[in-house]
Amino acid sequence: MYIRDVTKVDIETVARISVEGWRHAYRGIIDDAVLDGRSVGEAARQWQEWLEDLVRRGDRLAVADDAGQVVGFASYGANRDQDNGFDAELYAIYVDPDRLGRGIGTALVRDMGRWLEAHGYEDVVVWCLKANPWCRFYGRSGARPVAQRIIEIGSRKLEEIGYGWHTMATLREE
Ligand SMILES: CC(C)(COP(=O)(O)OP(=O)(O)OC[C@H]1O[C@@H](n2cnc3c(N)ncnc32)[C@H](O)[C@@H]1OP(=O)(O)O)[C@@H](O)C(=O)NCCC(=O)NCCS
Repeated sequence: MYIRDVTKVDIETVARISVEGWRHAYRGIIDDAVLDGRSVGEAARQWQEWLEDLVRRGDRLAVADDAGQVVGFASYGANRDQDNGFDAELYAIYVDPDRLGRGIGTALVRDMGRWLEAHGYEDVVVWCLKANPWCRFYGRSGARPVAQRIIEIGSRKLEEIGYGWHTMATLREE
């Protein structure tokens, strides 16, 4: 398994993992109508547009490739909220729900640390719904809770926690 840049042919798989990842992680947290209303085709169109924006801005969508099969992805780059003190942001990270807990997420965030450092970033933040049990992954990867905010998805107001890595060195540790 290795980490590489996404290509156009990966978009459909990225979309499928994001839709299935949402349903897996957020069932009972986000309205069923929102979770079940997202089709892979629609998500693929959104990811294609987002990828074009990412490339224009110089940000990155990386995939974990296991013998030619995409099994997870992460996207990151300049922080969208310049007020919270972090210069980079991990926008999204999802692993195929059939492959959770096997080190793929860890490989993706370590590679992110190397890429962000090489592109001049010093620290990075990620937002995670507080009710998502997978938030624990960020603590395990060296991030610490640094902020909170309320967002609205469907009919619900949900609390998000910002986890910050204050140096890229914490992300490189074995
Ligand atoms: C979060 C995610 C990207 C992590 O990737 P992963 O490949 O599963 O993670 P790893 O195998 O590298 O696991 C590292 C740590 O995750 C945590 N973890 C593993 N299994 C877990 C579980 N069932 N529940 C909660 N945390 C778990 C552990 O802390 C683990 O470290 P440890 O085994 O040393 O204790 C992935 O689980 C995922 O896609 N989750 C669902 C979608 C999601 O929540 N995405 C993040 C949105 S903000």
